[in-house]
Amino acid sequence: MNERIEKIASQALEDIENAKSSEALQDIHNRYLSKKSELSSFMSKMRDLKAEEKVKFGQFMNDIRFKITTSLESKKAALQKKALEERLNKEVIDYTLPEVDLKKGSKHLFNKIIDEVCDIFVGMGYQIAEGPEIESDHFNFELLNVPKDHPARDMQDTFFIDETLLMRSQTSPVQAHVMLEKKGQGPIKIISPGKVYRRDDDATHSHQFGQIEGLVIDKNINMGNLLATLELFSKAMFGEKREVRMRSSYFPFTEPSVEVDISCFECGGKGCALCKKTGWIEILGAGMVHPHVLEMCGFDPHEYQGFAFGIGIERVAMLKYGVDDIRRFYNNDMRFNTQFKR
Ligand code: DAH
Repeated sequence: MNERIEKIASQALEDIENAKSSEALQDIHNRYLSKKSELSSFMSKMRDLKAEEKVKFGQFMNDIRFKITTSLESKKAALQKKALEERLNKEVIDYTLPEVDLKKGSKHLFNKIIDEVCDIFVGMGYQIAEGPEIESDHFNFELLNVPKDHPARDMQDTFFIDETLLMRSQTSPVQAHVMLEKKGQGPIKIISPGKVYRRDDDATHSHQFGQIEGLVIDKNINMGNLLATLELFSKAMFGEKREVRMRSSYFPFTEPSVEVDISCFECGGKGCALCKKTGWIEILGAGMVHPHVLEMCGFDPHEYQGFAFGIGIERVAMLKYGVDDIRRFYNNDMRFNTQFKR
């Protein structure tokens, strides 16, 4: 019996040696190792053997099967290697084929302006602060000197979520958050970019837009510091030749309050369509932080003063790049978005 088995085994090894494909190997596997194979049929003969012969015969069969299996495996690996080599030899890479045109993404103009403005202020030693877009009435209005029923609320007719929560209508509440965190201890020098929401919709007003808030609190801060800061910013953002002027204005949380204009960068101040023939372009609101706001936010107004300003992100972009409609920032027209790649 053993002789017959040895013969089958050597036939199997020979077949493996001659096999030319993995399909052929699979056939060999079925022929010699499957349950229905002749080799397997010998296993049933075990029954008739004595105990010690059983062990010996079992061992013998295992060795045979092991030889065939390992030989099958190594032949399979050899065939695969050969196939791969053949493929690599045949394959020619055509370097002259045009590359696949992968579209490279780029920053949205909105974020580019944030980066530019923040870079300028970080260069002046400001830190970047963030605040929540869902804000409480208390922070969005009351801590900024706008109590319930104050007429200034009309200008920021707002998206309320419930009685006390709303989508913030300005980035100014970040001022209050930062001051309260500082617990009456200056200095503070922050800039805070982010989205704000109002019930607005026309070519220059969108229900969602961006602002950048600035706040400086320290001892001996005055309007001169504010003016110098805004001059530095305007020249860095709009060109060395820019001049800055202030007009008195009103914001509930600053006193005095100013509207800040820069000399028109289109005509240099002579008067053109962009500046509506005035030579000046309004870019932001600012002022000295109201003593009552300082007090409500934990700062002693006899010891500390501060200035604040708020810049409209899209407004800066529209002026700088001549964008005609604020809604272009939000309707995802790639022809608009990809214009500002560099
Ligand atoms: N929060 C004001 C607005 O949305 C803008 C503003 C004006 C911010 C004066 C300031 C400021 O910090 O001092 O209309």
